[in-house]
Amino acid sequence: MKESEIQDNTELERMMLEKLAQDGVRSKIQDFALSYRELMAYYRCAMMEVSTKFQVLNEELSLQYDRNPIESIKTRLKSPESTLEKLQRKKFPISMASIEENINDIAGVRVICAFPSDIYMLAEAFLRQDDIVLLERKDYIKTPKPNGYRSLHLVVKTPIFLHNTKRMMKVEVQFRTISMDWWASLEHKIRYKKDVLISEEIDNELYLCAEISAGLDRRMEEIQQKVELCAAMEEQAEQMNDE
Ligand code: GTP
Ligand code: MG
Repeated sequence: MKESEIQDNTELERMMLEKLAQDGVRSKIQDFALSYRELMAYYRCAMMEVSTKFQVLNEELSLQYDRNPIESIKTRLKSPESTLEKLQRKKFPISMASIEENINDIAGVRVICAFPSDIYMLAEAFLRQDDIVLLERKDYIKTPKPNGYRSLHLVVKTPIFLHNTKRMMKVEVQFRTISMDWWASLEHKIRYKKDVLISEEIDNELYLCAEISAGLDRRMEEIQQKVELCAAMEEQAEQMNDE
């Protein structure tokens, strides 16, 4: 860091501390922190509601299909730093109302499925529930991003029931297969962790990996469907023998 930058930072720190020492400013910050914590608690509740809905669907569908369509469910709350960064980047006002109005992914739920068709089956079952309101749907499986990214994104509103009121909260749900998730996690690591400009050649490599991975997803699904068909035929033959 340059000498002038160190001086600027020390001056900024001194000014901030001076402001903080003023009673009015301190109480404003405390009020803001309290309502921020309250809002984040509501988002956490909404995440729990949505995550439970998928656990229930997994339980029920595993009885019907004799296997779990969901491999895992992950939840994450957007950090204050990236919330602020997103508000500033998109030039939205910095307030609680603006967070609720403009940022769709404060509460994120990621549902990792076994096969691509499980994604659509689960998404449709979830959207049929009468307390779920669909706000946005982006199908990056039918139309992958140019870099190869695949996932089904839904932004929904769901109610949370507090002791004396009901509140509708936004949740972003991302559905991926294991291999879509594997690719997205590694691509994110490669692309964003290093402070290096990614060349066109690396972009192409990543895209090819996404295509190979999608091809494997399709093949595994075909194998699974063949096995299920064999199992159904065997069951039918057994039933006919019994009759
Ligand atoms: P935002 O306003 O930032 O949400 O932009 P958007 O609505 O255009 O984003 P989109 O719904 O397309 O994607 C949001 C999320 O999907 C990101 O936060 C990532 O978790 C994931 N995502 C989208 N594109 C990519 C990608 O190319 N690679 C990886 N690894 N993840 C992605
Ligand atoms: Mg988004």
